[in-house]
Amino acid sequence: MELAKAQKLWQPHPGWLNTASYGLPPEPAWVALQDALADWRVGRISWEGWGEAAERARAGFAGLVGVAAADVAIGATASQLLAPVAAALPPGATVVVPEVEFTSNLFPWLVQQDRGVRVRTVPLDGLADAVDAGTDLVAFSLVQSSDGTVAPYDEIVAAARAHGALVAVDATQACGWLPFDAGRADAVVVSAYKWLMAPRGTAFAYLAPALRDRLRPDAAGWYAGQDPHASYYGPPLRLADEARRFDISPAWFCWVGMAPALDVLLDVGLPAIRDHDVALANRLLTGLGQPPGESAIVTVEVPGAQEKLERAGVRAAVRAGRVRASFHLYSTQEDVDLALDALTS
Ligand SMILES: Cc1ncc(COP(=O)(O)O)c(C=O)c1O
Repeated sequence: MELAKAQKLWQPHPGWLNTASYGLPPEPAWVALQDALADWRVGRISWEGWGEAAERARAGFAGLVGVAAADVAIGATASQLLAPVAAALPPGATVVVPEVEFTSNLFPWLVQQDRGVRVRTVPLDGLADAVDAGTDLVAFSLVQSSDGTVAPYDEIVAAARAHGALVAVDATQACGWLPFDAGRADAVVVSAYKWLMAPRGTAFAYLAPALRDRLRPDAAGWYAGQDPHASYYGPPLRLADEARRFDISPAWFCWVGMAPALDVLLDVGLPAIRDHDVALANRLLTGLGQPPGESAIVTVEVPGAQEKLERAGVRAAVRAGRVRASFHLYSTQEDVDLALDALTS
């Protein structure tokens, strides 16, 4: 589908420049969710169909990041899905993380310190160089939530492979606009309520088969069973061979709202979405006299920005005195110009 045609699936209030906080649902996702809620309210149908939305979403996510659906686990948050990876690190292991990393990809490693896991934080631009023979795992966001910096994925993976370190990626601020190959890492987690435009409470993890063998599915319940619908009662333990054994039972309505949004992203295609999002981000940067970049998330320092944007009804995040603006396929030039007018007035 042409991006311009897809844009008709949203009617955002002008000035939503904050997909890095949460994404807006396309019409089919909104409608599917309302229909499910209406069915739930009166007990019109059984629940199995709501669960099937999670399976559609698993397949859609796998297609988006170029891996097999069998290697994808579903959960509720990014940090929850990183937890088994962190818990499997042996005592004495060293994890290297960027120094300004979002905590969902930091606390999972730090909580293991009481077992003797060591966490080293280094500047993002020195991350690849910081990976050495003493590194067991390198963890980083593919796109930084604070300022939109795109991490040098290839360089970091190459350094990790050269030293036998594992690679864990948080692609929450990347997946949905930045094409990338998840299969090059050992683990990739994505919280889906931003660029994948799902209700909060949906997340994915790509878990490489060799890594999975080293992890214990501590949160396993019936949905992690080889056949979930034959796993309602009693022993023996009969977990799925695939990444599904790390699933938690799907939060039905969140997944009902997730699956149609992935269909739209797959239909439009990530290269077109990236070009659109980055072009709008660069329109803002160049309109403020700054050089263009390569990210859908940008930060700008403008005195009094918060009040100026609020007065114009523009919704962007303000972090440490800097405006963080983020753009997705429903964003328009008019949104950017609203912000530019406010910031330059
Ligand atoms: C990089 C990054 N990862 C993860 C999250 C959310 O993580 P969780 O799903 O663990 O709440 C955010 C939210 O801002 C984020 O920016």
